[in-house]
Amino acid sequence: MNYSELIQIARKVKKNSYSPYSKFRVGAVLVTNEGNLYSGVNVENSSYGLTNCAERTAVFSAVSEGERNFKTIVLVSDAEDFIPPCGACRQVLMEVCGKDLEVVMSNSDNEIRILKLEDLLPLSFNKEFLEK
Ligand code: THU
Repeated sequence: MNYSELIQIARKVKKNSYSPYSKFRVGAVLVTNEGNLYSGVNVENSSYGLTNCAERTAVFSAVSEGERNFKTIVLVSDAEDFIPPCGACRQVLMEVCGKDLEVVMSNSDNEIRILKLEDLLPLSFNKEFLEK
């Protein structure tokens, strides 16, 4: 599946965002090495700190289904800007997907920006430190 097809899926999923407080809808599609897709949206809470971002929703869903090898995550919102994963999500993505994960962001003009996770989270604390 190409990037624009994945972005279309993420935009459709974004409609399910539960974001009554921020009104900031985010959709994510996580792609495994085999091409399986797992989607996620942000799920907010009246106790704001319990909000789960779209990225983590997608990751936790994929891991729950037994997936362990990931190639790409696609992120969309309604904003003019490219929305990158927040710090907490970068750390979770590093743990589960690793430094080579492609992070594909698309803005409201349907432009695309692609970065490697290691460029978004340089010098990360990760599981390699615990394996020594
Ligand atoms: N949010 C995400 O879902 N992913 C991000 O990468 C950034 C922020 C959500 C959390 C909250 O529901 C809303 O966007 C505003 O912060």
